[in-house]
Amino acid sequence: MQISGLIPAHCDDAAALWHRAGLTRPWNSPEGDFRRALDGETSTILGGFDDGCLIGTVMVGHDGHRGWVYYLAVDEARRGQGLGVQLMAAAEDWLREQGAVKVQLMVRSTNEAVVGFYDRLGYEDADVTVRAKWLV
Ligand SMILES: CC(C)(COP(=O)(O)OP(=O)(O)OC[C@H]1O[C@@H](n2cnc3c(N)ncnc32)[C@H](O)[C@@H]1OP(=O)(O)O)[C@@H](O)C(=O)NCCC(=O)NCCS
Repeated sequence: MQISGLIPAHCDDAAALWHRAGLTRPWNSPEGDFRRALDGETSTILGGFDDGCLIGTVMVGHDGHRGWVYYLAVDEARRGQGLGVQLMAAAEDWLREQGAVKVQLMVRSTNEAVVGFYDRLGYEDADVTVRAKWLV
């Protein structure tokens, strides 16, 4: 798998992958999320490619204080081959290059099984409760 920054032309493939991976929600436009991440100066989306096919993604950004990871996904047919670990390592490298000293992520309560994956990568329970509010 080769990892590189995605470009606008990858929007549909990424949104389809996120949909198949169960990461999309009806109230959130994955295409809108994709565009905002690429438009922002402090965020990007890294894609994993095999033979030109997009087989994995990770959205990464920082807010000047901490780094955040979203939309980590590996094509179902390619899971269990270490690609998720490679994508997370690339996201962490990108954040280090941006000067971030800490990275965090949110896991939906309906996706607790994936917590074991992050545990293996050294992610710890941050013991916080997240609150969210729509601004639009
Ligand atoms: C999470 C995800 C990206 C992992 O990708 P992957 O390429 O299969 O992961 P890796 O092969 O790098 O796995 C590394 C290790 O974590 C383990 N692991 C992978 N997914 C796991 C999960 N859901 N729960 C617990 N452990 C998991 C693997 O067994 C492997 O362990 P090993 O080294 O002992 O074999 C992939 O399962 C996925 O796309 N899931 C759907 C989308 C999702 O839930 N994303 C996270 C949103 S917070």
